[in-house]
Amino acid sequence: MESLRLIAPSILSANFAKLGDEVTEVVGYGADWIHVDVMDGQFVPNITMGPIVVEWLKTVTPTPLDVHLMIVAPEAYIPDFIKAGASSISFHAEATPHIHRTLQVIREANVRAGVALNPSTPLNVLEYILDDLDFVLIMTVNPGFGGQKFIPATVPKVQKLREWLDATGHAEVLIEVDGGINVTTAGVMSEAGANAFVAGSAIFGVHNRQIIIKQMRQAIDTAAPRL
Ligand code: DX5
Ligand code: ZN
Repeated sequence: MESLRLIAPSILSANFAKLGDEVTEVVGYGADWIHVDVMDGQFVPNITMGPIVVEWLKTVTPTPLDVHLMIVAPEAYIPDFIKAGASSISFHAEATPHIHRTLQVIREANVRAGVALNPSTPLNVLEYILDDLDFVLIMTVNPGFGGQKFIPATVPKVQKLREWLDATGHAEVLIEVDGGINVTTAGVMSEAGANAFVAGSAIFGVHNRQIIIKQMRQAIDTAAPRL
């Protein structure tokens, strides 16, 4: 079975004055998900957007909206993002003591549920929730800003996670990588076993987004280890 490989442009690096057009453009070039970064100025030192943006994006594209919550007490806001039309929601393990309960709330709404881990957070926080996850978001930079440099230590982390998921009967759990992903690092992470590739500045920061998405797709497919 061919494993899933998805490209998820992050609107954090898009032009917010014409957000609908920006999203429609990358969807036209084959984006699989649209990644929406939610920051509260507490969990990370930056403030971005809330559920209303998801609600409006829903009116311009049928493409799944992948919401990444970088906020404290994510459980307080998850119902609003579900209502707004998120297709997948990830929240940080470092941001709540109630990971299991929060995953259940997301899944009960038929929304894909994911846990995000900062670069320094070990994989073992996932040990007792493997059955409750649809995906794991591995931060490949420290969360908070677009345009940062990829952290190489996250490559063995993704390899280890993929081996662990496969060995424990959780091969269907997707690994999403986020931060500093470009054509080169997407290829490296595809080989390591990642499935979903978030890219903000690499896609929205360039003029010819079509070429970058095409090159990224090629790099991901060429490097994919599992058939
Ligand atoms: C960072 C966000 C990322 C960000 C990635 O905290 O979670 O999704 O948009 O931006 P790039 O691809 O520019 O590193
Ligand atoms: Zn993100």
